[in-house]
Amino acid sequence: MTDAPMPRVTVLGTGYLGATHAVCMAELGFDVLALDVDEAKVAALSAGELPFFEPELPELLRKTLATGRLRFTTSYAEVADFGDVHFVCVGTPQKSGEFAADLSYVNAAFSSLAPLLQRPCLVVGKSTVPAGTAAGLAGLLSLAPAGAGVRLAWNPEFLREGYAVQDTLEPDRLVFGVADDASEQTLRAVYAPLIAAGVPVVVTDFATAELVKVAANAFLATKISFINAMAEVCEATGADVKALSGALSYDTRIGGRFLNAGIGFGGGCLPKDIRAFMARAGELGVDQALSFLREVDAINLRRRDRAIDLARELTEGTFVDTRVAVLGAAFKPNSDDIRDSPALDVASRLHHQGASVQVYDPQAMDNARRRYPHLSYADSALDAAGDADVVLMLTEWVEFRELDPAVLGAVVAQKRILDGRNALDPARWRNAGWHYRALGRP
Ligand code: UDX
Repeated sequence: MTDAPMPRVTVLGTGYLGATHAVCMAELGFDVLALDVDEAKVAALSAGELPFFEPELPELLRKTLATGRLRFTTSYAEVADFGDVHFVCVGTPQKSGEFAADLSYVNAAFSSLAPLLQRPCLVVGKSTVPAGTAAGLAGLLSLAPAGAGVRLAWNPEFLREGYAVQDTLEPDRLVFGVADDASEQTLRAVYAPLIAAGVPVVVTDFATAELVKVAANAFLATKISFINAMAEVCEATGADVKALSGALSYDTRIGGRFLNAGIGFGGGCLPKDIRAFMARAGELGVDQALSFLREVDAINLRRRDRAIDLARELTEGTFVDTRVAVLGAAFKPNSDDIRDSPALDVASRLHHQGASVQVYDPQAMDNARRRYPHLSYADSALDAAGDADVVLMLTEWVEFRELDPAVLGAVVAQKRILDGRNALDPARWRNAGWHYRALGRP
C-alpha cells in the first residue's frame, strides 16, 4: 500500500454479512462505522453482543470495539459524513408470493445515502442482487450532491454462515465489478492485506460481478441436488449413495465437497438465490437457460417428502400418537439460522400429521420457538429422545454425530432412527440394536 491515509469504511446493514464485514474491516485496521435501522441491534452490537450465533465473531466484535476503531449508528447522515468507502450489505430476501428478489432494502439504503453524499466516495454493493441492479443504482448515485465524485462498485460476498470470519479474512477470491480504474484502486487499497496474502482478484464489469455470486450459488445448489437425485436412484436400485459420492469424489474434476446427500439445502441464500436467478432469467428472455434450476429446487424439496415417508415407515404407517424426536433446527450446523430450514419444515409437517414432536438444537432454539411455536422443545438431545418412537437426526451438529447409540437407546421407547444427513455410522447404530434408515442408502 502507498502512504495514502487509510480510507474510512462504513457498512450499511448489520446482519450475518454486514456485521461480519464491519468487524473484519476493523480487524484489518480500518476505522469503521456500521449502520442499521434497527435501534435494538445497534445497541446490542455497540455493547459487544452479537444478535446471532457465529463462531469467532463475538470475540472479534469485542476485540475491535475495544480498539475504538468500530462503532455502530442508526444515522445515515453520520455514515455519509464519515465514510470514504460505503459497503452496502443489506438483505435481499425472496419476495412474498413470487420467486423474484425483494430489493426494497437495497433501494432504501441507496436512496437514503445518495442525497447525503457531499464529498467523493466509493459505494460498494455487497448484497446478492439480480444482474442489472447495479447499473440502475449507479443512476441513483449520480443524483448525490457530490455528483461524479461518487462512484459505484459491485463486490459480491461468498461467506458461509458458520465460517463467516474465515471466509471474510481469507476468501477464495475477490471480485471487483467496476466502471473505472479509480474504483478498482480504492478496492485494492481496502483489501490490500488480503491481496498481499495471495487472494486472487477478478476485475470485471457490474453485471459479471453480480452474476458470479448467483452463478456460484446456483452451481452449489445443483451439485447438492445432483447427489440427491442420485440418492433417489440409489433408493430404487438398492445402491448406497454415500459409497457412490465417495467414489465420485476421487475424480478431481468432480471433487467431494457439496456432495453430501440428505434432506437437502436450506438457509437464507441457496433456495432464494436460485429462485431469484430464474425470475431474472425470465425477465431477460433467457428463462430456458435456467429451467434446470426448477428441477434443482424440486429435487431438493422432494428429499424432505422422502424423509417424512421414511419416518412414517419407521413408525409403521402413522404418526398419530407417536412421539418424534427431531435433532436439529438450524438449516445447517454451526449456525442458529432457521430460514428455510429443512429440519424444521420436516418437524412442522410431522406435527401437522399428528405426531408429538420434540425438537432440540444446540443454538437455534430461540429462533425456532419464535417461528414454530406449535412445536415442543427439549433441553438436550437426550431429553428430546425420551420415550421417542422414532428419532430424526436432521442437522449434523458434531454433538449429534457423536451421540452414543447405547446411551440414546436407553431413553427411547423404540430404537428407530432416521439419519437425514448421512452423518452417522449405520453399522454402529445397527450393532447397538437400532433400526437405522437414511436417504439414498439400503
Ligand atoms: C451459501 C454459500 O455456500 C455461500 O458461498 C454464500 O455466500 C451464501 O450461501 P450458506 O447458506 O451459509 O452459504 O450455507 P452452505 O454451507 O452453502 O450450505 C447450504 C445448505 O446446503 C445447507 O442447508 C447445507 O446443509 C446443505 N448442504 C451443503 C447439503 O445438503 N449437502 C452438501 O453437501 C452441502
